[in-house]
Amino acid sequence: MTAVETTHLIKPHGGTLVDRTGERPDDLDALAPVELTSRELSDLDMIASGALSPLEGFMGADDYESVLETMHLTNGLPWALPVCLAVDGPPQSDRVALTDETGRAVAVLDVEGVYDYDKGREAELCFRTRDTAHPGVARLDAQKQMYLAGKVTVFERATPTFPELALDPAETRAVFAERGWKRVVGFQTRNPIHRAHEYLTKGALETVDGLLLHPLVGDTKSDDVPAATRVECYRVLLQDYYPNDRVVLSAFPAAMRYAGPREAVWHAICRKNYGCSHFIVGRDHAGVGDYYGTYDAQLIFDEFEPHELDIEPMFFEHAFFCRRCDQMATPKTCPHGGDDHVFLSGTKVRELLAAGELPPVEFSRPEVAEVLIEAYRD
Ligand code: ADX
Repeated sequence: MTAVETTHLIKPHGGTLVDRTGERPDDLDALAPVELTSRELSDLDMIASGALSPLEGFMGADDYESVLETMHLTNGLPWALPVCLAVDGPPQSDRVALTDETGRAVAVLDVEGVYDYDKGREAELCFRTRDTAHPGVARLDAQKQMYLAGKVTVFERATPTFPELALDPAETRAVFAERGWKRVVGFQTRNPIHRAHEYLTKGALETVDGLLLHPLVGDTKSDDVPAATRVECYRVLLQDYYPNDRVVLSAFPAAMRYAGPREAVWHAICRKNYGCSHFIVGRDHAGVGDYYGTYDAQLIFDEFEPHELDIEPMFFEHAFFCRRCDQMATPKTCPHGGDDHVFLSGTKVRELLAAGELPPVEFSRPEVAEVLIEAYRD
């Protein structure tokens, strides 16, 4: 990609886009291996690319404590969720090789410390519950007992699941600049885009220059729609219903935490690193089950000083199709009652699809529903 001036875009979190890629060291074979989980590998790759700027490695005890208690790093920057590497115990050396599940070394970590942590406390503070039925708590519960801290140097980048959609923060910034965009809204999603999502993204796009459609493609819970199916849905929707010169579709390589409010802040900070000046937060963002209130993920932004995050959250209330208004709306814009609103739960939609029935056009574009039905038929 040719060098393009990007200084007019929002600054990365902390001011500089971190780059923790580097050379494969000569003494790699002599280093003790530490195997990462798939969630840790996606975090590692995001540290490498600067998506988690200003983090340069896995968090030390001071930052971890500070993030849990205050939602800030020790340097004062907002940060909402731990980014930690769990190990069984202290390593034997001051440098270790980080490996994937096949034992292939992908990075080196310079050990800065190893510390105990309290899973129940982390669960309570991050997920607002200790219930192991919560997928984030279950993941935490299954994790090794100590955290290993230190800067990383990644010499083997992760193979992207969707190579054509893989753009690092430096690359999305370059694309935005080439298109002449300054104000860009980021949209996080782990679902196929239904009419409500379309309404949010288009509503936001009305007031900014461009949209980064940034579906999460890292680990999700087993009953979420698989990323490959979702990507197909995004493609058909973009092809027929969005102006392509106003939208960039790219994959967000993070794993889902299901941490609701805290994850909304974390998602926003990551998208700031990708160059977004705005970020959409709708109903129950990154939520699961009934663990969070419908708008908790919006209210949490009040816990930061105005402009502390720099990226501007764009809040949307619960969107639905209203048959009387004959259009998409929210409680803010529609005076009619629930009987006029088309609302389908995720379970109901899955039931319809499994039975080979298209959800109503008021809920899902037929092109998207067709892709989903095909996927459910397999
Ligand atoms: S999430 O876990 O990535 O938040 P999802 O893909 O369902 O799940 O949501 C993506 C974004 O759209 C989030 O900001 C969420 O709050 C918002 N959203 C989803 N459905 C609605 C809806 N019907 N009304 C308003 N906002 C919604």
